[in-house]
Amino acid sequence: MRVFVTGATGFIGSAIVQELLAAGHGVIGLARSEQAAQALLAAGADVHRGSLDDPDSLKRGAAAAEGVIHTAYNHDFGNMSAAGELDVLAVEALGAALVGTGKPLVVTSVISHLAKGRVCTEADEPDGGSAVKHRSAAEEAGLKLADADVRVSVVRLPPSVHGEGDRSGFLPAVIRTALQAGASAYVGDGTNRWSAVHRLDAARLYRLALESAPAGARLHAIGDEGVSFRAIAEAVGRRLDLPAICISPPEAAGHFGWLAHFAAQDVPASSKLTQALLGWQPVHPGILADLEQEFYYRS
Ligand SMILES: NC(=O)c1ccc[n+]([C@@H]2O[C@H](COP(=O)([O-])OP(=O)(O)OC[C@H]3O[C@@H](n4cnc5c(N)ncnc54)[C@H](OP(=O)(O)O)[C@@H]3O)[C@@H](O)[C@H]2O)c1
Repeated sequence: MRVFVTGATGFIGSAIVQELLAAGHGVIGLARSEQAAQALLAAGADVHRGSLDDPDSLKRGAAAAEGVIHTAYNHDFGNMSAAGELDVLAVEALGAALVGTGKPLVVTSVISHLAKGRVCTEADEPDGGSAVKHRSAAEEAGLKLADADVRVSVVRLPPSVHGEGDRSGFLPAVIRTALQAGASAYVGDGTNRWSAVHRLDAARLYRLALESAPAGARLHAIGDEGVSFRAIAEAVGRRLDLPAICISPPEAAGHFGWLAHFAAQDVPASSKLTQALLGWQPVHPGILADLEQEFYYRS
C-alpha cells in the first residue's frame, strides 16, 4: 500500500515509517522543511511537501495515497487548545480526501482525555471535563468519517511513548525537572498511575490498524497498564543519584511547571480489546526497564 504519513519525521512517525517499509509498504512522508524532506529521503520514504497549516496540502497528500496515518502535532504546551484545533482541521482535511473511498485513515489520540482514575478500555468515551479535552475533538472528528465510507481508526497513546530517540516526550521532561530541582519528585503518595508503551510496539499497532482495523475502531497502544508515578520518580532518582521526594499537590505547579497536570494524573488503561481485535502484542521493554537505559541520561 502507498501510505501518506504525517509526522513522519517525529519520534513515533519515524518508527512507523520504518515499520511500514519493513512490511513492504511504500511511504510518502509529509515534510514542512527541506531538513525534514532530506530526513525522509534518507529513511527510504518519498516526500510530500506541505504543512498542518495548509489543509489543501494535506488533502493532496491523502488523495494520492492508498492509506493515511496521521501523527503530526504541533506540541505547543503554551496554547494547547490552538494545537488541538489545528489537529481537528488536519483530520478533517485528510478525511475529506478519503470520503467514499473505503481507504484506511489512522488518527492519533490519547489516553489522557479518558482520565477516569480506573483502568480505561477502548469502550470508554472521552471525558468532556478533562484538562486535555482539546485532544477529544480530533478523535471525534476522525470517528465521524466511519459514516462516510472511510475505514478510519483511532490509536490512543498513553502519556509515555518511550524508547531510544525520545527527546520531547514526558520522560525527558521528568528527568530534566529532577536535574534542575536536585530531587526526583512525585505528588502526594505517588500512587497515581501512568500507562505507557514502547515506541516500536506503538509503530506496529499503527501498521496493523492501517492494514486491518474495522471502520470506527478505537485502539489502545498500551504496554504497561499502569505504573505508579512514584516508581517512575524513584527509577529516575536512582539513575541520577538524586533523592526521590514527595511533594504536596499545591507544590506541584511550582516544581513541575507545565508538566504538573501530567505528573499527578491517574491514567491506567488496558489494551486487551485491541490485542484481541488485531493480534497485536507489546513485546518491547516497559517504561521502568527503559528508564534504566543510558540513552535517557545522555546530555
Ligand atoms: N511521544 C509521546 O510520548 C506521546 C505520548 C502521547 C501522545 N503522543 C502523540 O503522538 C503524536 C506523535 O508524537 P511524537 O512524539 O512523534 O511527536 P514529535 O516527535 O514532536 O513529532 C511531531 C511531528 O509532527 C510534525 N509537525 C509538527 N508541526 C507540524 C506542522 N505545523 N506541519 C507539519 N508537520 C508538523 C513534526 O515535523 P518536523 O520534523 O518538521 O518538526 C514531526 O514530524 C502526537 O499526536 C503526540 O501528541 C506522543
